[in-house]
Amino acid sequence: MASPTTEHLPEDFLWGVATAAYQIEGGVDVDGRGSSIWDTFSHSDGRTRHGDTGDIACDHRALWRQDLELIADLNVAAYRLSLGWPRLQPTGRGKLNTAGVEWYRELLGGVCDRGIRPLVTLYHWDLPQALEDEGGWTTRATAEAFGDYVALVAEAFGDLVHDWVTVNEPWCSAFLGYGVGVHAPGRRSEREATAASHHLNLAHGLALRALRDAGGTHQVGVTDLVADLVPVDPVADAEAVARLDALNHQLFLGPVFLGGYSASVTALLDPYGLSDLVQPGDLELIGAPLDFVGINHYQQVLVEDDPIGGIARVRETPAGERRTSFGWSISPDAMTRVLQHVRDVYTTLPVYVTENGISLTDYIRPDGTVQDPERVEYLADYITAIDTAVADGVDVRGYFAWSLLDNFEWAEGYDKRFGLVFVEFGSQKRVPKTSASFYSHLITTHRGRVRHPFAAASVPTPKRRKETFQ
Ligand code: FCB
Repeated sequence: MASPTTEHLPEDFLWGVATAAYQIEGGVDVDGRGSSIWDTFSHSDGRTRHGDTGDIACDHRALWRQDLELIADLNVAAYRLSLGWPRLQPTGRGKLNTAGVEWYRELLGGVCDRGIRPLVTLYHWDLPQALEDEGGWTTRATAEAFGDYVALVAEAFGDLVHDWVTVNEPWCSAFLGYGVGVHAPGRRSEREATAASHHLNLAHGLALRALRDAGGTHQVGVTDLVADLVPVDPVADAEAVARLDALNHQLFLGPVFLGGYSASVTALLDPYGLSDLVQPGDLELIGAPLDFVGINHYQQVLVEDDPIGGIARVRETPAGERRTSFGWSISPDAMTRVLQHVRDVYTTLPVYVTENGISLTDYIRPDGTVQDPERVEYLADYITAIDTAVADGVDVRGYFAWSLLDNFEWAEGYDKRFGLVFVEFGSQKRVPKTSASFYSHLITTHRGRVRHPFAAASVPTPKRRKETFQ
């Protein structure tokens, strides 16, 4: 079996696994859950592959106890999950929905009871449809509603959760959702993508303030998607790389860590009204001190100039080169470079790789097993690449494999399997893949399993709630 190098990773390196609510939960009609932009989008003709929806997904809302056992079997010390906003607050406003709170308390209690530390994402793309109907992320009011929601969430779950990610990959929400329209809510407007970007940044700032105001020992970070952008021609395509870097990375990491929008960002987005959206106090909120940064990294992207004047062109990874079933490049060195880049340009805060993984066309063999040697190799190579970054001084504290389960991969539906555990979607049967044994073995051999290492000295162990341990 592939064996990664982990010798530079700290002894209390946090090994984890990640999911997101809409991608796994199903149960869209239980708990009095409201509908989200992903319910609407996936039910609209032609928006997702095969018309797939998250109505059932992995049926985790029903099967969560068995899924907790799968997580425990991985030997992970942490589980990154998201809270479904429409399950907790069906219209995005008003008091929290008791049934939703009860279920998430049971789930989080179950995570804690297994000695696993939850890292909770507050926004992983499932905006309540009622807020979208009022303008969604193009309006400031949505960011304000999110801040109010997070204050309620901190109160409802603050005894069980100490580690929070405010917003997951705001670039995807803003640009895929409002710019090119391939994600919910499917709008296509540069001006709307620009507004969504600032309002998602503001949502982060307001959520951060709500968590700080709640007191206690919350550790807060934001998660950004960071790609390794490589020019096809180092000279002719350098500006295209700079433009893409401004939109993909600086637009979000800049105000969080460098105090505002860079000149390259405003040059690109002021024509669409970016600076006009920024109100006094916004940048202070967005740039308030954080405890860690979450990095999701999936691919190296080959970038070239767009001869017809667009921002840039992205070249597909040529067939024949190592790539995933998504067509994403497999280039572990890119992980090292991305981590170094974030450290050099943005922040020396502790880093958690909050997502990394590979989609493959996995299947159950006649002997009942699911063999995914490519995923094992991928994990080994990318973890080694993290080790290299740590050897170079980057303060990486943890790694969350995407994903626990094969799940609803947004517009790609169920074709793209990222799980360490295979899901047969008809029967909901789960089969841990070879990569699951690889990962649990790796964790056990990496100096044993460490529990609750986030700021271990100052954070109390989350309360155990025996009544939820079933
Ligand atoms: C990331 C998303 C996550 C998952 C992976 C493959 O961009 O955060 O939900 O879809 O990609």
